[in-house]
Amino acid sequence: MRLLAKSNLVKLGLVALTALGTAQAVYAADDDSAVNASPEQQAAKMIENRQALFKVINYNSDLYYSMLKNKIPFDAPTVAKAAGRIEVLAAMIPDMFATDTRKVTGTKTRAREGIWTNAADYKAKSDELVKAAQQLGAAAKSGDKAATYKVARVLGNACSGCHDNYRDK
Ligand code: HEC
Repeated sequence: MRLLAKSNLVKLGLVALTALGTAQAVYAADDDSAVNASPEQQAAKMIENRQALFKVINYNSDLYYSMLKNKIPFDAPTVAKAAGRIEVLAAMIPDMFATDTRKVTGTKTRAREGIWTNAADYKAKSDELVKAAQQLGAAAKSGDKAATYKVARVLGNACSGCHDNYRDK
């Protein structure tokens, strides 16, 4: 410490304070949207959140989609990784629809009202995807290509089975 001139210490302190200020500013921005938002704004935000969830689910199923089309070779670890992620993400679907957003206007959504009038069935459809993802992970880890592709198609049916009933075209 003795080696540091006092002015250097002051500079260090200023740098630390600036960093803290930035962190607080970022925190305040998040805080605004989460806490100070009106119920309508929060519901609109939930629409964006769930759409983001599906985008990430889709990103992961795309990781092996070209394998099913025989465009790239079977790669068991990639399928296992994607399946593990989809399992975790799919388990979030019911949470992401806990907020009834039917009255929200101004945010585009393809969600159908049955999600809230038929909530138990919607949850069952979400569970189907979780289960298919678990099975896909197990099949991929076994290294059996045919079994893995078979389960991957079952998983694909879990997506379309829900979309057919609960997502607008
Ligand atoms: C339990 C029902 C359910 C399951 C299972 C499901 N989805 Fe969806 N998905 C929806 C609903 C509802 C929407 C519309 C969300 C909205 O617009 O608010 C949607 C939207 C999407 C979107 C569009 C996201 C956007 O707005 O950009 C994609 C892509 C998608 N799903 C892919 C998938 C894939 C891939 C799977 C299977 C691995 C899957 N979904 C499984 C219900 C489901």
